[in-house]
Amino acid sequence: MPTDSPARWSAIILAAGEGTRMKSTRPKVLHEIAGRALLSWVVRAALDAGASRCLVVVGHGRSDVEHVLRTQFGERVEMVLQPEQRGTGDAVRCAIEGAVGLEGRVLVLYGDCPLIPPALLRDLVAQTDRAEADLGLITATLSDPSGYGRIVRSSEGSVQRIVEHRDCSDDERGINEVNPGLYAIRAGFLRDAITRLTPNNAQAQLYLTDVVALAAEQGEVLDLEGDMNELTGVNDQRDLALASAMRRRRMAEELARAGVQIADLDALYVDADCEIEPGASLGVNVHLRGQCVVRAGAQIDVGCVLSNVVVEKDARVLPYTVATDSSIGEGAQVGPFSHLRPDSRLGPRSKVGNFSETKKTRLGEGSKVNHLSYVGDGEIGEGVNIGAGTIFCNYDGEKKHTTVLEDGVFIGSDSQLIAPLRVGRGAYVASGTTVTEDVPADGLAISRTKQENKAGYAARLRARLRGKKKR
Ligand code: UD1
Ligand code: CA
Repeated sequence: MPTDSPARWSAIILAAGEGTRMKSTRPKVLHEIAGRALLSWVVRAALDAGASRCLVVVGHGRSDVEHVLRTQFGERVEMVLQPEQRGTGDAVRCAIEGAVGLEGRVLVLYGDCPLIPPALLRDLVAQTDRAEADLGLITATLSDPSGYGRIVRSSEGSVQRIVEHRDCSDDERGINEVNPGLYAIRAGFLRDAITRLTPNNAQAQLYLTDVVALAAEQGEVLDLEGDMNELTGVNDQRDLALASAMRRRRMAEELARAGVQIADLDALYVDADCEIEPGASLGVNVHLRGQCVVRAGAQIDVGCVLSNVVVEKDARVLPYTVATDSSIGEGAQVGPFSHLRPDSRLGPRSKVGNFSETKKTRLGEGSKVNHLSYVGDGEIGEGVNIGAGTIFCNYDGEKKHTTVLEDGVFIGSDSQLIAPLRVGRGAYVASGTTVTEDVPADGLAISRTKQENKAGYAARLRARLRGKKKR
């Protein structure tokens, strides 16, 4: 049951660390899950939970991290610099010193914990506040707790302190109740406690976790049980892959529950900012990246990779289609094996078939590019048929030029259209034609050498060739 939160509380999110265990040049908190940075997931959870201020401590890779935060959250986040990464306690100290007027309840989170449910944060703040505890935290149990800080309890069962994995005694290492790293702390207490931390530990750092012992000295620490599946921290690439799979699975289930037909819940790759309407259908290994929209009745079949693509109602995208920054009209059909490059705008009930490539092209209602064509910089009207193997020669080595095909045009197979070019309404281009000049409406363009048949020639040729072979 949701609990009441205090009216105003703040979040501090730590994101200054380097993340050496990722073995990557990118700051750890900018690695992505479902198209969003780890840190963005955490910031979003804090804001969704109702934080009235959200401070992010930045340091390593600062300019990149700040850029991501600014573009996604604008003024809703405040950034504080931790000049040297001297531990999570030092990071919080920087936030407290850098932020004016931090009062009431402060929720401290780590920026590498991307699956946190906002409801849990709301609960933690509310319950800690109601208990009037200096500090409340979440704990969780893990069969393999290695890497995590362990929760040390008194004989009466109250939380006493947290000991980091590296600092554990043999006995402590056997504890499998761990610290996922979510704390709701009274601002006044935190401001004082943070000055009392010492670097007496294996890493010679200031540990935020040491404030737990300080709180326990003064009174009861409140603890809530969490589910580690929602609270894993990402420290290396394995953690990232596992958290990513978890998030994808959760999203696939939500979509399925909302009425999207999903072939395999564990083989769907949809970025968080995509919109899929109920009644759409998504095949195995479909990737929807960036901001895709898939309308009701649309079907996206096996292995398609779409980035920022709008798929209108009842459209069908057949297997292994790749499309970027494009739109597919109502009832249109694309694929199998089609490639829509940026700014391909396919009209209603149009078709782009196998091994065809389009780029910066508008394809009118009902028009077809069914087989093996390249269509770039095209303005194509309605009811146009583009035969197999047609090439729009749009590039002269310096500039791109437009090809205009008016309504009802028919382009015979294996034609080349040398842009700039206009083919008038209802005109025909005969197969194998190289079109260099505009074609008038209802006209026919044909450029072929005349055919010659030589009777019996093939048989004579064959006999001659076979004779040679025997010698
Ligand atoms: C931390 C906890 C550990 C807990 C685990 C949960 C401490 C000392 N340990 O360990 O008890 O079980 O998280 O996932 O807090 N950061 C800074 N500045 C620094 C150091 C780190 O901003 O100087 C940030 C990092 O960017 C990261 C977060 O703090 O987002 C946590 O740091 P990390 O090094 O991953 O801590 P853990 O070893 O996982
Ligand atoms: Ca961590």
